Amino acid sequence: MRIILAKSAGFCFGVKRATRMAFDATEEHDHLSSLGPIIHSPQLVRQLEEKGVRVVDEVPPAGDGAVIIRSHGVTRGEMEKIARRQLEVVDATCPFVKKAQEFAAELSADGYHLVLVGEEEHPEVQGIVSYGEEGRVSVVANPEAAEQLPRSSKIGVIAQTTQSFDNFNAIVGVCLRKAKEVRVYNTICDATSVRQQEAKSLAARVDLMLVVGGHNSANTTRLAVICRELQDNTRHIETADDLEPGWLEGVETVGLTAGASTPSWLIEQVVARLETLAGT
Ligand code: F3S
Repeated sequence: MRIILAKSAGFCFGVKRATRMAFDATEEHDHLSSLGPIIHSPQLVRQLEEKGVRVVDEVPPAGDGAVIIRSHGVTRGEMEKIARRQLEVVDATCPFVKKAQEFAAELSADGYHLVLVGEEEHPEVQGIVSYGEEGRVSVVANPEAAEQLPRSSKIGVIAQTTQSFDNFNAIVGVCLRKAKEVRVYNTICDATSVRQQEAKSLAARVDLMLVVGGHNSANTTRLAVICRELQDNTRHIETADDLEPGWLEGVETVGLTAGASTPSWLIEQVVARLETLAGT
């Protein structure tokens, strides 16, 4: 049996950086919490918990050690609260997300109605939106939603970093009909599209496609959906233990990819189990 591992499988730059910063912080701080899980990998969150990192939903009280900010970033209000409480900060916000937050603040300061292309309930979007001027920000998920935008003299458009370029482009097109002046910053990070393209080409030429990553990870789930469109025999698994030997019957080639928040050791364990099963 042949196993083909996608080159782009696993951590993106921002998640790799955030994870390294979190583990480094455990060496330097006795009392550490992360505002929301640092990444969408239950296995990695557990490892960090074993090293003393508590996951909290709200900014901890003053004097409660250091706070890790995850790669998605947090809201301006939470950052201000952390500063007021004089907590130490390990800011692992991905630099690409930070840039989107800065553009949101800039566009609002320059008088633009801010249009953020993304999913309203996503923590990254909530963080970026909070840097815009309240009441002058719209989050739109698709061109149909953009059609509902009010007319405005100036519109500024940015995107959640994981958006598809085609959706962003289509929404910019709608905005051009809504305002005389449109300023656009392309804040899409290509880590997602590179991973999706590679998964697509792999899924089309294997007998079984495995997608490894947390069931709570949106980008992993999306990868599985994309692969399933091209390969009925696609399985989304979290760990090597989820692999069922029966899946390999009659399979000559297995494709393997993983979401941006899947640690490399989990991928390696899946490869090792596949090799063991293939050898029996
Ligand atoms: Fe950053 Fe792109 Fe990953 S925005 S967190 S490098 S998907």
